[in-house]
Amino acid sequence: MSLSPQWLDELRSRISLSGLIGRTVRVQKAGREFKACCPFHNEKSPSFTINDEKGFYHCFGCGAHGDAIRWMTDHQGLPFLEAVKELASLAGMEVPAPDPRAARKAEKAKTLHDAMAGAQDFFRRNLAGDGGGAARSYLATRGFPAAIIETFGFGYAPDSRGALKSALAGFGEAQLIEAGLLIAVEGKEPYDRFRGRLMLPIHDVRGRVIAFGGRILSAEKTDAPKYLNSPDTPLFDKGRTLYNLHRAAPAARSSGRMVVVEGYMDVVALAAAGIAEAVAPLGTALTEEQIERLWQVVPCPVLCFDGDAAGQRAARRAMTRALPLLKPGHSLSIVTLPGGMDPDDIVKKQGAAAMEALLSAGTPLIEAVWQAERDAAPLDTPEAKAGLKARLIEQTETIAHPDIRALYRRDLLDRFGALAYPSRERSQFTPRQAAPRQAQQGQKRGGGRWQPPEPPLPPEEAERLRRYGQSEALLAAVLAGLATRPSEIARHAEALAHLAPSDPDLARLLDALLDLADSPESGESEDEDQEGLESRSIAPILRERNVRLPTAEDYPDLPFGAIVGGDASVLAEAVDLLVEFPRVEAALAQANARCEHDLSEESFAEQQRLVQRRLALRARLGQMGRARAAL
Ligand code: UTP
Ligand code: MN
Repeated sequence: MSLSPQWLDELRSRISLSGLIGRTVRVQKAGREFKACCPFHNEKSPSFTINDEKGFYHCFGCGAHGDAIRWMTDHQGLPFLEAVKELASLAGMEVPAPDPRAARKAEKAKTLHDAMAGAQDFFRRNLAGDGGGAARSYLATRGFPAAIIETFGFGYAPDSRGALKSALAGFGEAQLIEAGLLIAVEGKEPYDRFRGRLMLPIHDVRGRVIAFGGRILSAEKTDAPKYLNSPDTPLFDKGRTLYNLHRAAPAARSSGRMVVVEGYMDVVALAAAGIAEAVAPLGTALTEEQIERLWQVVPCPVLCFDGDAAGQRAARRAMTRALPLLKPGHSLSIVTLPGGMDPDDIVKKQGAAAMEALLSAGTPLIEAVWQAERDAAPLDTPEAKAGLKARLIEQTETIAHPDIRALYRRDLLDRFGALAYPSRERSQFTPRQAAPRQAQQGQKRGGGRWQPPEPPLPPEEAERLRRYGQSEALLAAVLAGLATRPSEIARHAEALAHLAPSDPDLARLLDALLDLADSPESGESEDEDQEGLESRSIAPILRERNVRLPTAEDYPDLPFGAIVGGDASVLAEAVDLLVEFPRVEAALAQANARCEHDLSEESFAEQQRLVQRRLALRARLGQMGRARAAL
């Protein structure tokens, strides 16, 4: 198809833009232009102008701007070529056909469209006519207002094998078979596909009838399938079509919301309840094409699933379909209806407001994926939990977009970590020092465990912690402990020499202790009278250097007393912790940074290992305190 710029200019010039827009939006003349409340955003006073001479519209509120073709693609949701064809038919212009084969195909489609339009006419007349009594009374049980029945084009297919066939005989049997209106079986006369059913036309984005859905006239279960749909035809591709899209898309563009429900009747019921922007797939799970179509209209369509087992299956399938397709700025919101109800039930039993409330409280896709996987199987053994993790990873691996994949993976594995490794230690021993450090590094989630936010610290306390970090209290306890047991200093001198306390008091104390370890009379002599050594060597040095020993009052939270008053093994344990804590913190900060940039199985495992290690260290610290308290 070659659409020359000249041809397109001719097309634009033949269209009255205000007339075109005026078909769906109320426009008012304002001087040489027209004004309207902008259909692309919500507003009360009109900032949308239409200039027929120049052939474009412009919104001073949201910046929406374009010509007639743009209007058809952006507001009506038509693909470009469809928009051009629709405008050409309005302008009475022939769209140039590129070659004879395409021309023949277009000709055939035209007669198929005519056949479908003829069938729609036929079904409507039958619903209104003498034979339509049963269908009218069934329809009455659904409680739809007359205007809705009119808008949605309800009809009735009489219970006969040849009624439509003879009514539309002019189209020829072959056409009617190709249109899916007749069924052709080997060795039999072709016969009407839809018999004794309430009929709903299915439209393409240009609003032309391309298929039908027919419902049996009974609320009870029968042998016949409840709904019968047209087969795929040259006009109808089930997987690419969404029921009601031609009406819903323009409504969705102004409201910013698009709702996908499971059934035709749900769409109709929602429209009757004032929710016009609803569509439904056609008896199949939502396809990739349908999801892409929805995203052309709004960035985050709401998928609304019935609250029964089938609805849950459909929800899972839709999520699985959507993950590989996710792209920046596009997602889905998932609503699961309560109590086995469908949208039709909700609006009838609880009203439109209840439905609105459910729609606005949709679950973000990532949360829905998490919940679905978490609830898919019991999690009562480590193996089952590992299975959950494997499923989460498997799901995220399907996401094609690298940033979105990494973000999903991190978020889902964080949730997994919080579930599989619930915090034990925090309830027993919570180093107050940990709080600001975590907040500072933004690790509330990066640590693989969700933790409730800590209450804020008084500013001077927060400042002290910022300066000294969480090891400072432990260091103070160790140094005070060594000051009372100078014979232990030499053994730990190597470890202590690497420390660099930022508190000047502690730095001076550490220097004093290390100097003491270097002096010849201390050290190796295990049998020496320790009380004697203490009073002899340490006190004068501290006094001389004006160093004050930290006390338990300075560090109320730490098992300070346990360390200072404990035996050599407690002190050794505390020194181990003192050395290990900053190492783990540093390694964890690195691991977090790595996960941030390159979230792989290994980097995550390493991060988790370090988080566990840090927890174990805190637990040991906590045990020191409890061991002391038990004495
Ligand atoms: P439902 O059975 O949930 O439809 O099937 P519904 O809209 O609630 O039907 P009512 O309220 O009883 O009239 C959901 C969709 O599945 C397809 C149809 O597209 C239907 O709208 N379907 C269902 C079929 O194609 N065939 C069937 O036999 C049943
Ligand atoms: Mn229903």
